[in-house]
Formats: sequence, structure tokens, C-alpha cells
Amino acid sequence: SKILYNNQIIGRKNMIDIEDRGYQFGDGIYEVIGVYNGTPLMLDDHMERLARSAKEVRLTLPSTINELKNKLVQLVAANDLNEGIIYMQITRGTAARWHEFPKNEVPPVTIAYTRAEERMTAVEDQGAAAVLAEDIRWLRCDIKTLNLLPNVLAKQKAVEHQAIEAILHRGNTVTEASASNVFIVKNGELYTHPANNFILNGITRKKVLQLSKGLNLKVNETTYSVDDLLKADEVFITATKLDIVPILKIDDQIIGFGVPGEITKQILQAFRSLYE
Ligand code: PDD
Repeated sequence: SKILYNNQIIGRKNMIDIEDRGYQFGDGIYEVIGVYNGTPLMLDDHMERLARSAKEVRLTLPSTINELKNKLVQLVAANDLNEGIIYMQITRGTAARWHEFPKNEVPPVTIAYTRAEERMTAVEDQGAAAVLAEDIRWLRCDIKTLNLLPNVLAKQKAVEHQAIEAILHRGNTVTEASASNVFIVKNGELYTHPANNFILNGITRKKVLQLSKGLNLKVNETTYSVDDLLKADEVFITATKLDIVPILKIDDQIIGFGVPGEITKQILQAFRSLYE
């Protein structure tokens, strides 16, 4: 399969330097974009977020957002990808290892590749379990950077407990999950953590907010506690490719009736109509 390396679409080989700042410092940003029926979903939103991440870490993008977008569309075509994801990352480039930015400006290193993946229909319909984990990340979780060690550790805990996700809490406040956003439903209304520095402003989250409006559901972008989470009528997570997954159990606590809730199912159905 082909990859994007800087501005060329070429065969995959070992071309990343040992002093790439992404490799050494996690000094870079990334995006994961879902591909449905050969089309990247919500590509503009992902590219806008990439541009924002770049700005926040003071990384100069190698080309315009439109050029990057076109390259990704070309890559999907070159790989004949129908269902799966695009992974794209941009690092601050290759230079002698000093923490500060390289003195002589070096070009960023851009890579993207695709991965074929089945749709997650079964888990979306059936739901899954989650575990709780303390949110030990830094205070700029709104930037989609390569520094994911806390997320990796949290997800590993989930997997070791046969769970799909680790739902993170900072003290008593639920923030998001290791690689997804979290919504709860209580008395017919939705609640999700506000899009501030404590969470990644998910593209799927944003779409769910829009769809909920269309379904006349009230969404409160407010913080809520671990106790609110465990006593919710419904809980679901949102992320690229996972779309919307009902959470039926958290640690040992059954959520609601232990089956996917009606509001979650409505939102899932509305989300599927975006690409079906
Ligand atoms: N993760 N929160 C975190 C910490 C995430 O890493 C992600 C996505 C999300 C959901 O964002 P979106 O709806 O834009 O995918 C929320 C991607 C999929 C990943 O790292 O693989």
C-alpha cells in the first residue's frame, strides 16, 4: 500500500530519521479520519482541527489545508480504500536533539497512510463495557498531539478488563475517555464535558451535538461527576470509526437497564444516515 511522505505518494519504506522530533519528543500533531464507501467523513472538520493543533504548538504546516486535503483524497484513491481510516501526522522535523525548536528552521515531516478496517456495526448495536481511570494528562488535552502515553496506559487498563474504553476523571469530574468523548443521558437530556482545555473537541462529538439538535434533544455542555456517570440512564462514547458505542457497564456498575438506550440508538441511527 502507498503512503504520503511530505508531498509525495510513494511505497512504504523506512524513511523516518532517528532524530525526528516526533519520535524523540512526541513533538507533532495528528488526525485520524474515517473512510466510508471510499469517502473520508467530515474531512474539512478534521483538517480545521489539524490547523488549530498546528497553531497551538507553533508548528508551521507544510502546505495549505486544501493541498493536504487533496493529498489525502489522492492517497485513499491510490490505495483503493473503501472502509477504514486515514492516519496523518506532522512532526516538527528532523534536527539534532535539543528540546527547544531547531535554530535553523527545518521542514516538518508529514506522513499519512490508510488502514482498511471493518465497520464497527456489531459493537455499536450491542454496546460494550468501560472502566474508570484517573485522568493524568497535561492541561492542553484540546490539542491533538502525539504525546499519548497517558492515553495508552488508560486504554491498556481497559483492554486488560475486557472493556472497550477507559473513562477518565479529573478528581470527581468526568472528562472524556482514552480515545473517545463521553456522553450521558439523564431524564431525556444529554450531558457532555464542555469543549475546553480538558478534552479533545471530537469531530464525532461535534456531529452528535448537531444531530441531537435535529432530533430535538437537549444537550448540556456542562461538567458532570463520576457519580452522575454511574447513575446515568444511558452512557455512550463517540470517536472516529467507533462512531457511537453504548456503554452498558462501568467497572462493576450496570448502566441503566444494561442494554443500549433509546436515545443512544436514535443518535446512532442519525449518525449512520451520514454515510449509508
Ligand atoms: N482518537 N478524545 C480523545 C482523547 C481522542 O483521542 C479521540 C480520537 C477523541 C474523539 O475524537 P474524534 O471524534 O474527532 O475522533 C476524543 C483517535 C480516533 C485516535 O487517537 O485514534
